[in-house]
Amino acid sequence: MIHVDGIDVSYDELQVLWDVSMDITDDDRIVAIVGPNGAGKTTLLKTMSGLLAVDDGRVELFGRDTAGLSPNEIVDLGFVHVPESRNLFNELTVAENLEMGAYLHRDEYEETIEEVYDLFPVLEERRSQDAGTLSGGEQQMLAIGRGLMAQPKVLALDELSVGLAPKLARRVFEKVEAISEDVTVVLTEQHVHEALELADRAYLLENGRVAAQDSAAALLESERIKESYLHG
Ligand SMILES: Nc1ncnc2c1ncn2[C@@H]1O[C@H](COP(=O)(O)OP(=O)(O)O)[C@@H](O)[C@H]1O
Ligand SMILES: [Mg+2]
Repeated sequence: MIHVDGIDVSYDELQVLWDVSMDITDDDRIVAIVGPNGAGKTTLLKTMSGLLAVDDGRVELFGRDTAGLSPNEIVDLGFVHVPESRNLFNELTVAENLEMGAYLHRDEYEETIEEVYDLFPVLEERRSQDAGTLSGGEQQMLAIGRGLMAQPKVLALDELSVGLAPKLARRVFEKVEAISEDVTVVLTEQHVHEALELADRAYLLENGRVAAQDSAAALLESERIKESYLHG
């Protein structure tokens, strides 16, 4: 489904990804991209979403080279990115925000919104409330729900747990597990331990390079991860 082949990516003169490769197949349910702040996790997602161009290497989504495709065309292919900022329309209601996510699939709107409300009953309860008045956890659920409205094949979630209390973060992770039964999830996390417990497979990014990749279970047991990320 996703084939990232040796990409270099820069902001102006500053190169931040070096020779990054990643493969995600139909068999993958949850793949985590973990690593410290500044490692390049968001940059990798933005490149897959068509927001940044590669200097070298290529990104293939669902068999298509994405070079030259716009972010909307990439959504249309089935890759949907929920950014860390969540990008909600605070002055619009929950239902209106969900509707914005469905612009490609207007005809299936009713069915899809029912699925989203089944997954997140709190969004149905608050459907007429302005998004800006939701709690942090509810806003994260709305951002995920809006992503699902686009009927993705792959849902990419950037720093899911950022700004959430641990209990709420766990609840969001449980939703992600449910989503992954139907949709492949790629997520980034600075909380390496939590992400590895959730994911099936993971890539460790450090300083813009893939420092390790393996099953999440193997990475949890690896000395490299234990030494740098799992204490405390
Ligand atoms: N818009 C930008 N312009 C210039 N440099 C950026 C920009 N966004 C991120 N960077 C730099 O790119 C590197 C990787 O950042 P990022 O992909 O956001 O890492 P992560 O998501 O792993 O925290 C960092 O050094 C960061 O400062
Ligand atoms: Mg980031």
